[in-house]
Amino acid sequence: MKNEEKEHLYKQTQKRYLWLRFKNGCMSLKNSKLKRLTLLVFGIIVLLIWIFNKDRFRLDQMQMVSPAFITLSKLIFPVALISGELFIIILFGTPCGCKSVTDNFRRIGLTNSAGETPELVAKYKDKKQLEATVLEFDSVGIPPKEWEDKQQRIEAVLNVHIVKIREGKDKRTIRLYTVPASSGLSDKNEWRDSYLIKDSSTLVLGRSLLGIVTVDLAKIPHILLGGSTGSGKTVLLKTLLMQAIRKGAVVAIADFKGGVDFPLVWHKKCRICFDEDRLIELLTELVEELERRKVLFREQGCPNLDEYNKRTGAQLPRQIFACDEVAEVLDKTGLSKEQKDKVSLIESRLSVIARQGRAFGIHLILATQRPDANILSGQIRNNIDCRICGRADNVLSQIILDSTAAAEQIAKDMAGRFLLHDGTLFQAYLINENSL
Ligand SMILES: Nc1ncnc2c1ncn2[C@@H]1O[C@H](COP(=O)(O)OP(=O)(O)OP(=O)(O)O)[C@@H](O)[C@H]1O
Ligand SMILES: [Mg+2]
Repeated sequence: MKNEEKEHLYKQTQKRYLWLRFKNGCMSLKNSKLKRLTLLVFGIIVLLIWIFNKDRFRLDQMQMVSPAFITLSKLIFPVALISGELFIIILFGTPCGCKSVTDNFRRIGLTNSAGETPELVAKYKDKKQLEATVLEFDSVGIPPKEWEDKQQRIEAVLNVHIVKIREGKDKRTIRLYTVPASSGLSDKNEWRDSYLIKDSSTLVLGRSLLGIVTVDLAKIPHILLGGSTGSGKTVLLKTLLMQAIRKGAVVAIADFKGGVDFPLVWHKKCRICFDEDRLIELLTELVEELERRKVLFREQGCPNLDEYNKRTGAQLPRQIFACDEVAEVLDKTGLSKEQKDKVSLIESRLSVIARQGRAFGIHLILATQRPDANILSGQIRNNIDCRICGRADNVLSQIILDSTAAAEQIAKDMAGRFLLHDGTLFQAYLINENSL
């Protein structure tokens, strides 16, 4: 791009920013009495100066002064009044520190192909999560993906933690939800019963910099948990199951890791199976229950479990099937024909639940170190929208989240630290399973 073209674009962008700041300034006047008062006081001062100095500016009484100059002199005060008020409004609409943000972005190369950097157009506290300061930028055409790729550099240069990056109301705006760099995630969060959410479907995953992170099974019905060994999958799985049990859900667990992870206390509260035959039975029962609910809901014209329970007064519970290290069940390498058929049957039952379970309150929570295509078929994977990745390398992070973000954001020695599919980084809670 030629220099003149760049210059032309730069001027256009600057004009747009000026307009944006004016708009923001007007908006801020609506919400702030002090700002309105400032504007009023400025107007009164200019008027007073004009009234008391009127005579000094009577150029029409002087000789040798051209008539055009006399007319201009009469306009000095109205022009000063209007331009002063405009200047103050634009100042109100200009977030403090926007120049240094622009300079910092230039330093890290966050620019578009015309060399323009995103402009900070607003800075405010998030209404829902008061810990967060939202920085709103005009993105000058830089897509969200590039912001995500450069997240660490942006954090370093602005000296903040970025908790999430979102597109604004239009495609031109990017919002960074930030907290001060000094605030960090704790390495250990003990679970407290007061954290339990009252409804039947929302489970608490852990704590992010903005507070508690949850997943609502009524909206995102199934969960896939991945991460390298020791990343904290089993602990998180148990925290979720414990909450589901407290909410009255029926929980079934497939434990193919020798029964060490789920001590006796779990056997009293859940159905646990250790072999393929029992697992096939269990999944077949779940699919039958799904079909039974389908008929019941159809008869009542209810679209989902909560609606059915509300309308009929029935207390149909949510049913959760959890499998820790699902690869132990679904990996077909080295199996006989008969064993492969069993695995295929298990896969097909899981697919039915993954596809249809949401409305009927039947959910899957699957954990595994590496949920690649050999282990989890597309049919199952594509219907699991809640993806959570713990400590991982680039490839593993890519398999679970379709990005390398977990590898970049979770240190190699962290346990219980996870990244959610929407980019939320959180520390899972530790439960005391004896109080189950
Ligand atoms: N939320 C957490 N907070 C702090 N430490 C944790 C947390 N979760 C797990 N840990 C620590 O990490 C250890 C391993 O956790 P866990 O057994 O859940 O890992 P895993 O991912 O299931 O490993 P594997 O794949 O080998 O089964 C725990 O014994 C605990 O010390
Ligand atoms: Mg485990």
